[in-house]
Amino acid sequence: MNTTTRQQAWQPKDYAANARFVSDLAGAVLEWLDPKQGEHILDLGCGDGALTVKLMEIGAHIVGVDASDKFIEAAKGRGVDARLMNGEALQFEREFDAVFSNAALHWMSNPGAVLDGVERALKPGGRFVAEFGGFGNVAAIATALRAVAERRDGDVSLTAPWFFPSPEEYSTLLNARGFEVDRIGLYPRQTPLKTGMGPWLKTFRTPFFEQFGDEDDAAVQEVVDLLKPALCDAHDNWMADYVRLRVEAHLV
Ligand code: BEZ
Repeated sequence: MNTTTRQQAWQPKDYAANARFVSDLAGAVLEWLDPKQGEHILDLGCGDGALTVKLMEIGAHIVGVDASDKFIEAAKGRGVDARLMNGEALQFEREFDAVFSNAALHWMSNPGAVLDGVERALKPGGRFVAEFGGFGNVAAIATALRAVAERRDGDVSLTAPWFFPSPEEYSTLLNARGFEVDRIGLYPRQTPLKTGMGPWLKTFRTPFFEQFGDEDDAAVQEVVDLLKPALCDAHDNWMADYVRLRVEAHLV
């Protein structure tokens, strides 16, 4: 059994083909953010910048950070002030009116360190608005990955390395850092996968499948076969069993 820790490596082209829905479905969290012209906003985990440019169009001053150099390159290509930075070690001091994050925080395994940096980055009274995977997110997919890891004597720790907290758990982390939570909730959202489950699995769980070498496609197919009865309809439309956690909080 291989127990090496491997990082998810992003390929902007694959992401655009198989995960564009991530930025396309961000309407609700943008409404919660309600960005204003002239505000200084940090986009934490800006990815390829597709959503960041929407904030820029409103007239806000945006800085985007991401830990993927490929994503930073893509975001810069869209004109974003994008900086390579680990979200668990943010390097800002009282600079922003708001910190915003969409679909990124579940990749950061030390949420306390993330929120310490968010607190430091905000001006007094600043707000934090985020959406990411919440408790129960992709539960069926994670279970199928675990089953295939066990079947193939693979590394079970590579199945679901994500942080999917409950509202209670996340509120506790926020309160401990001087935030007051204005609203927080879990939002189940069946998410259509236009390119199917196989491409989603390869895009979002690359290190899991890489461990099987030449058998990677066979392992993908096994996961797909396990999930088909639960997540694919009679017309071959695939859905991912997403549950989002959305939160708005401010510094008191
Ligand atoms: C999500 O955006 O919910 C998600 C991202 C990566 C893996 C699983 C879920």
